[in-house]
Amino acid sequence: MNMKANQPWVSICQVTDIPKLGSRVVQRPAGNVAVFRSAADVVFALLDHCPHKGGPLSQGIVHGESVTCPLHSWNIDLATGEARAPDEGCARRFPVKVVEGEVFLSL
Ligand code: FES
Repeated sequence: MNMKANQPWVSICQVTDIPKLGSRVVQRPAGNVAVFRSAADVVFALLDHCPHKGGPLSQGIVHGESVTCPLHSWNIDLATGEARAPDEGCARRFPVKVVEGEVFLSL
């Protein structure tokens, strides 16, 4: 999925386009963004790059409001991007909002 630059809020997709407990990737030259959907339909956006060794968080398993990195199983908090203890690191997060079922991302 490509997106236009230089817009404060960019429409990405509908919430229902993101698999529950899964994600969708927004491609951009400065690094892809993974947009996640929790079981409760809360949407989060993080750089698709694990703070450990750069694993693709979009391919991780979402549980509650965390995602488990597919490479070495660090648990990353979706709201803050912080790795859960005992691991340390932080994935960049992006503002995301849902308006009438449509997902908007600010980059
Ligand atoms: S790269 Fe994500 S846990 Fe190692």
